[in-house]
Amino acid sequence: MSHYLQFADLNARQYTYLFDRASVIKKKFKAYERHQPLTDRTLALIFEKASTRTRVSFEAGMYQLGGSVVHLTTGDSQLGRSEPIEDSARVISRMVDLVMIRTFEQSKIERFAEHSRVPVINGLTNEFHPCQILADIFTFIENRGPIQGKTVAWVGDGNNMANTWLQAAELLDFKVNVSTPTGYEIDEKVAGVSGRSITDHYQTFNDPMDACRDADLVTTDVWTSMGYEAENEARKKAFGDWCVDEAMMAVAKPNALFMHCLPAHRGEEVAAEVIDGPQSVVWDEAENRLHVQKALMEYLLLGMVD
Ligand code: CP
Ligand code: NVA
Repeated sequence: MSHYLQFADLNARQYTYLFDRASVIKKKFKAYERHQPLTDRTLALIFEKASTRTRVSFEAGMYQLGGSVVHLTTGDSQLGRSEPIEDSARVISRMVDLVMIRTFEQSKIERFAEHSRVPVINGLTNEFHPCQILADIFTFIENRGPIQGKTVAWVGDGNNMANTWLQAAELLDFKVNVSTPTGYEIDEKVAGVSGRSITDHYQTFNDPMDACRDADLVTTDVWTSMGYEAENEARKKAFGDWCVDEAMMAVAKPNALFMHCLPAHRGEEVAAEVIDGPQSVVWDEAENRLHVQKALMEYLLLGMVD
């Protein structure tokens, strides 16, 4: 049994399979062709933070695969009343086949997984957002072919998305140019793959324009992630120059794509002209959460099926 707690939990061969499989599953979905390998399987969705895309894509995805879902939040379960995470894991995993958790510290999902009888999927923690990067890379491949050897520009916070991009770069052999404001840098220890050096696959730049130069993909995220709201005002001051605008897109490759995991704040981390412009693939990116996660759930429960 394997869990999916961070991007480094799968290897390059498994990702090749998952991207191919997501493409097959997407085609079936578009053709209204029934694909129900998970009949009678149940997914528990545990949210300790808000969500639109993650909830809809996992919930709709599991139903489309023939299974069903149970939805829990901190407020409406004993998780919010200090039941130990280990006990919650022991109980919930006796009743369902798969668990997705969105929570705060990565250590919390790790403790849950340690005591779970069934696979656990990270639906976002403070440290990582692997399902999102799975969708982002699938979207890149759909639009531009293999990501190997390509350059991704990360503009903004050294957050859960940035950490996950770094893990993906080492595993799938592409580069990430990172530009963050001072004080919001990526913590290499958090992002690192099994403690190995990731420096071959990423470079840091003080000026976000330099990070974007010749990039194949420019991507960013909110200035303030969930759980960091108390820092909002300080972050607004620090991040002023880290707005992906047309000037940044102009120094990237002419066919560069723009991605954002969403929700977005036009006029803060991205200009409306960019996110709503011709290089933006954010709606495909959001939709692809559905297809890649269906492939992931099928894989965690049934293994490679073709
Ligand atoms: N991108 C993403 O995970 O969106 P939600 O917070 O809406 O789930
Ligand atoms: N970095 C953001 C991503 C939201 C999908 C957050 O953690 O809030």
